[in-house]
Amino acid sequence: MQPSVTSEESANPNSLPVRFVFRCIGCGLVVHAAEQDFRCSRCGNLLEISDPSWTAGSLHPVALKSLWAQRRTLNESIDLSGVWRFRELLPQPASEQSVVTLREGNTPLYALTRTARATDVQQLYAKHQGLNPTGSFKDTGMTVAATFARQAGYRWVACASTGNTSAAMAAYAARGGMRSLVLVPEGKISWSKLSQALDYGALTCQLRTDFDGCLRLLQELVRSAPVYQLNSLNPFRIEGQKTLAYELLEQLEWQPPDHIIVPGGNLGNSSAIGKGLLEMRDIGLIEKLPKLSVVQAEGANALVRTLREGGKRLVSVQAETRATAIRIGSPASWEKAIKVLQSTGGTTEEVSEIEIAQAKAEIGAEGIGCEPASAVTLAGLRKLLLRGFVSRDEIVVLVLTGNLLKDPDFTMEFHRGELFSGNEQLNAYRHPPVVLDASLKAVIQTLEQAEKSAAT
Ligand code: F0G
Repeated sequence: MQPSVTSEESANPNSLPVRFVFRCIGCGLVVHAAEQDFRCSRCGNLLEISDPSWTAGSLHPVALKSLWAQRRTLNESIDLSGVWRFRELLPQPASEQSVVTLREGNTPLYALTRTARATDVQQLYAKHQGLNPTGSFKDTGMTVAATFARQAGYRWVACASTGNTSAAMAAYAARGGMRSLVLVPEGKISWSKLSQALDYGALTCQLRTDFDGCLRLLQELVRSAPVYQLNSLNPFRIEGQKTLAYELLEQLEWQPPDHIIVPGGNLGNSSAIGKGLLEMRDIGLIEKLPKLSVVQAEGANALVRTLREGGKRLVSVQAETRATAIRIGSPASWEKAIKVLQSTGGTTEEVSEIEIAQAKAEIGAEGIGCEPASAVTLAGLRKLLLRGFVSRDEIVVLVLTGNLLKDPDFTMEFHRGELFSGNEQLNAYRHPPVVLDASLKAVIQTLEQAEKSAAT
């Protein structure tokens, strides 16, 4: 369907600066201002932000690459951000000073050499988004969304969350001088994430429901109160998060990997990374598209089921997993994610709780570490290799979305042997703490025992 343009730019605070427009991913309607739910007024599907001038060849890939590289040597706050460094491909803020930033992005790409050997993959990398300022990839989206929330004059921003979004939102709201309202499922998010929201000054409501219930309530709230929603339904979040793709390709000297593997929860991140990849191809920054695949926990596998049943309507699930970050049964961005899988030739996979725990311990043993939701990527890679979807000579990048310190309870229970206690196979990956008398003899004995068991 041909996009049609309506001009509602006038009073709506969610208006975009010239050049960029909101475009419905379903019917293609183009508008300059969005409603509070960021859905299309014609068909109800989600909006994305786009710049129609790109396809007309207004950007020069070689010039962009050198401009972005040059900014890495500069000291202005906007250049120090690994998101705003790529600002030619982002909606433009009112001024450089109006950007709300904590120096997000610029995260490392690590070679996972031991895990590559153990999995028999030639080149395996981890892009560690857990090394962002609040410990997850959410910061890269939040810097853009918080900047535009403040620019639009909002006093309150709000989100439903499994923990990381709320931590990031609370931090960026605080930096930007806004108040933040957090809706989280009671007893279902890690203390460490909850404590971040509290420390950053959010009004934190623990609701007696799950994440999906929190998100539903937030949709009602934004229709009846002047709060600005910062969930990944908000396309400004997606704009920030898509810069992972630019940064990754820059780190790989613009040689695309064969595969990028991402955990799937509400499916904003996979949609964002996919959007970044497609834009890079359209602009001419890369010639070949990597495949982008999404891995979910078996107990929260709505996308896997949806695609199994044809992909035309969302198959929701009652989500249950210890990877609480992705304990989501009705992912909001499922249609965006399906489009990305189709355009990049990627797939979906699901992994068990035991596979997640093992993969997390393996990533930890490389000295890198991540939270359980991130470890689904390695567990998923193993299954994709078995399926023959990924071959052993390919270059694979795992997106680690959250920091090891985000969920210390999981890590402690695992290493103490309390999690999956009957599972013998996992024992090889456990490193339980040892309680000893404070004597030299006891420590030396323990050391010798450890050396002996390492040798066997
Ligand atoms: N990994 C981590 C560590 C997450 O926190 C999330 C989502 C995901 C993966 C999945 O990303 O939702 O974009 O598909 N966390 C959200 C939150 C839902 O509220 O923190 P997604």
